[in-house]
Amino acid sequence: MPRARTEWRCSQCGQVAPKWLGRCPSCGEYGTFVEERPREDVAAAVPRTPVRLEDVRADAAARIRTGINELDRVLGGGIVRGSVVLLAGEPGIGKSTLLLQAASRLAAAGRRVLYVCGEESAEQVRLRADRLGADGQVLLLPDSDVAGVVATAAAERVEVLIVDSIQTLSDSQAPGIPGSVGQVRACAQALVTLAKATGIAVVLVGHVTKEGTVAGPRVLEHVVDAVLSFEGDRDHAFRVVRAVKNRFGSVSEVGVFEMTGRGLEGIQDPSGLMLSQRRHDAAGTCVFPTVEGTRPVLVEVQALVTRTWLPAPRRHAVGVDAGRVHQMLAVLEGRAGVRFGEHDVYVSVVGGVRVSDPAVDLPLALALVSAREDKPLAGSVAAFGEVGLTGEIRAVPHAGVRAGECARVGVQTLVAPASRAALSADGIRIVRSKTVAEALDAAALRSAP
Ligand code: TYD
Ligand code: MG
Repeated sequence: MPRARTEWRCSQCGQVAPKWLGRCPSCGEYGTFVEERPREDVAAAVPRTPVRLEDVRADAAARIRTGINELDRVLGGGIVRGSVVLLAGEPGIGKSTLLLQAASRLAAAGRRVLYVCGEESAEQVRLRADRLGADGQVLLLPDSDVAGVVATAAAERVEVLIVDSIQTLSDSQAPGIPGSVGQVRACAQALVTLAKATGIAVVLVGHVTKEGTVAGPRVLEHVVDAVLSFEGDRDHAFRVVRAVKNRFGSVSEVGVFEMTGRGLEGIQDPSGLMLSQRRHDAAGTCVFPTVEGTRPVLVEVQALVTRTWLPAPRRHAVGVDAGRVHQMLAVLEGRAGVRFGEHDVYVSVVGGVRVSDPAVDLPLALALVSAREDKPLAGSVAAFGEVGLTGEIRAVPHAGVRAGECARVGVQTLVAPASRAALSADGIRIVRSKTVAEALDAAALRSAP
């Protein structure tokens, strides 16, 4: 067998190089390259005995409900014993809050829970727990040594181990400082081994920065069983927990929370919350039934169009990709004859939600033209559909779910893409349009040519 070559790997970002480098060309850190020797134990290993699939005992009921419905929903009905779940999100989004609440519910249900608080002292956790009205039976471990954590979890015979956060843990056997790729990977590996060997369910907190690239969650995604992403705007109340990966459930579920003075509260009716402050009679607003996973959520798309004397008019977008807004302005100009050249344009999706659903095009177009013409949409109007460069409206998935949600909250008119599939919902007028110009006519927005 040819000898494998020695490689050098950056302990900060994982970049591989054939020789030692002083500065990592990928992340720019100095002195982070460590040698990775090829393994020689494979040739010497004794073959193991595989088990037949039918002989494996699988206990479908081995789920532990956290008691937080929105969280259990995302997990697919609770945490699976012996599984490792990563909860990733930006600092301050509410990861510690959610997990302390979950720990408290579990403890109150008589389960043994160990909460490793590497980021905060036990006193700090206690202060937060008091605010949340948390159960006092949760076991705390303010430690950061992974070997100690593993030993404690096993000795205390806990059912659930929460590690807040994986970036603060350290493994004395691995290279690098806590939080570096090597450390994070080694610590996660130790916890995965613990989970598989003992059946303890492990939940890891992982921080992601604004750029979403920091050491941690990214390198962990493939070693853990499930990755939950905690999203939302820190300055807004509305938070979404989404399954990005789930070996034991679907990835189409989302949990919706609101941050309150007493922690995170699950929201049963996100649409109601999103539309609660909406003004029906204002120009420049349109309801958009978006779909989070398989769950419809109505959001409000707003636009403001004002005269400008600037040579390059301003275009500003919050909650929706600015490129989409630019493209929509061009399509409206080129295909429907609505001019924005002498106007500043501001677009916002209300409530701190970020919409990446392409079906936002049509409500965006209606809101823009409504604002441009200073004409409110007649009655309560919602719309969805992707708009192409020729001004055609393209069908998008989940049309029925979207229409149903609009009907539920009392939207009167829904402008939807034309397609062969029938679309109906109780008590709502559905207008199917082929082009954006047709949709503007349907919403009575086009001034007579
Ligand atoms: P935290 O859970 O510490 O975020 P993370 O662990 O993801 O970094 O806290 C998130 C924010 O929520 C923090 O700025 C304080 C706020 N907060 C509340 O508004 N209400 C509460 O009951 C708690 C505990 C925190
Ligand atoms: Mg925290």
